[in-house]
Amino acid sequence: MSDDTARLYIDLMKRCLTNYIYGDRELMPFSLASRGPKRWIGAALGTVGLDIVSSKPFDADARDSGRDFPPTAHTMIGMKRLDNIEACMRTVLSEGIAGDFIETGVWRGGASIFMRAVLEAYGVDDRTVWVADSFRGLPAPDADRYPADAGDRHHRRERLSVSIEEVRGNFSRYGLLDDQVRFLEGWFRDTLPRAPIESLALMRLDGDMYESTMDALTCLYPKLSRGGYVIVDDYGAIGACRKAVEDFRAERGIEDEIVEIDWAGAYWRRSA
Ligand SMILES: C[S@@+](CC[C@H](N)C(=O)[O-])C[C@H]1O[C@@H](n2cnc3c(N)ncnc32)[C@H](O)[C@@H]1O
Repeated sequence: MSDDTARLYIDLMKRCLTNYIYGDRELMPFSLASRGPKRWIGAALGTVGLDIVSSKPFDADARDSGRDFPPTAHTMIGMKRLDNIEACMRTVLSEGIAGDFIETGVWRGGASIFMRAVLEAYGVDDRTVWVADSFRGLPAPDADRYPADAGDRHHRRERLSVSIEEVRGNFSRYGLLDDQVRFLEGWFRDTLPRAPIESLALMRLDGDMYESTMDALTCLYPKLSRGGYVIVDDYGAIGACRKAVEDFRAERGIEDEIVEIDWAGAYWRRSA
């Protein structure tokens, strides 16, 4: 693929993965979406099989910065954080920084699918995209071991639970499910310590909690090549995630500059 074609393909992938294409709308059972007289209309529609309505219009600004919770898009991270993945990948590929790519916390798979798409665009066939998730949502907080997670309620959010079959299916829809994609199914604390990964050029952490962020950093950072990137999706958005990053960096004496991507995401490049 020429460089121009690669850029066009990557741009189209971003628009599809964030669902800019259709501008999805939140769909809810009518009875949840409305009260009063409209509820009766909803019930009537239900009898003819039209029991869902759109409750929120598509908000391009929110989608751009990954601030909404998309009902159908394959990623919730928004355009700016997809741009950041592309920029980091282009740098490591052009500079020959060794290693694979991983996302820890994939939800519907969109950001990981995007990594595989970038490899496809640049004809890279000797690197793997690792896809790590429980595929059943977040763990309940273990406040004794990780006090920063006390009271965390992410594990109660059913919409964060997406099965491995659905994620595989999403890769497949883009024609990107092949042997350059490998799945690590289970809690990070169980899968990451024994993952058969030799080296990484980029690790993208999107597990929200202190435990999930710390487990990924502890297990994967030693495998990150010099010149590789650590991207933390929730550094600016979730205090517990930020604290895990700060604790890890302080413990290891890491002073590489943390660069803000948007209101939530940040990254640093490993210098040593
Ligand atoms: C915010 S979502 C990820 C969003 C995704 N990166 C995207 O592109 O839209 C968080 C994901 O992390 C997973 N997760 C969080 N902590 C985990 C843990 N300790 N072990 C396994 N999976 C975890 C959840 O199952 C969920 O799929």
